Amino acid sequence: MPIRRWIVRLQERLHTKHFGRVVVFSCEVRSTNEWAKELAVAGASHGTVVVAETQKSGRGRLAREWISPAGGLWFSLILRPNLHPAEAAKLTFVAGLAVADVLNEMFGLNSETKWPNDVLVNKRKICGVLSEMSTTGDTINFVVVGVGINVNFEVEDVFPKELKEAATSLESELGRKVRLEELFIGLLERLESLYEFFLEKGFSPVLEKWKNYAGFLGCKVKVTSQTEDLNGLALDVDYDGSLILRLENETLRHILVGDVSLNVQ
Ligand code: BTN
Repeated sequence: MPIRRWIVRLQERLHTKHFGRVVVFSCEVRSTNEWAKELAVAGASHGTVVVAETQKSGRGRLAREWISPAGGLWFSLILRPNLHPAEAAKLTFVAGLAVADVLNEMFGLNSETKWPNDVLVNKRKICGVLSEMSTTGDTINFVVVGVGINVNFEVEDVFPKELKEAATSLESELGRKVRLEELFIGLLERLESLYEFFLEKGFSPVLEKWKNYAGFLGCKVKVTSQTEDLNGLALDVDYDGSLILRLENETLRHILVGDVSLNVQ
């Protein structure tokens, strides 16, 4: 069923205090993150969700294109947390954990988290999270958490050759379509409960849960940044969200969440 048919009665079924209490929908946008940022600047409330059936210029990390055909779940959540800007990157882990939990619980999949912002199934990417924030000095004005999940389309039909090997979708994994509405409701509810858990208990218990899904830990990885490539063993993820890498010469490096990508070897 197209999103516009169920989005109008979403609130009736949603058990959340803030997340999804205001939903803004369009059949086609450039990018839900871009639209959410415009709405946030104009004063949109905490928990507002911006969702689209397709994105013409969906964006991933490192300015990559995010292919967003009909059948996927493409949305951005506007948050106004009372956090220091340095803490905001942790919201990406909260979102990744929520997606991994929901994919496992609703569909019985063995999803994995991959530092810093991916969720994988069978080692292929099914979801990416793009968090962006606006600050004034040490104050966060808002954070936009953009979530993209490949749902009701076959990877084979949609992705270019070079991405087919690395990506998957719920339809490709399950061999059937799923109800996008159920997934969206489950996800918004889990996102809100984990967000509150994070604010109340801090990042450590969130990170522990996230690490329970982290299949890349203990594996050989290559971290690519604008300035260098680093090969090593992914030892751990630190409390600040940085990746702890043991290099081939046995020294330890902390890699901050930023303009880096990680490939599991
Ligand atoms: C990544 O893995 O690089 C992050 C991908 C994030 C994609 C989502 S889809 C909804 C939102 N709008 C965007 O333009 N990007 C995010």
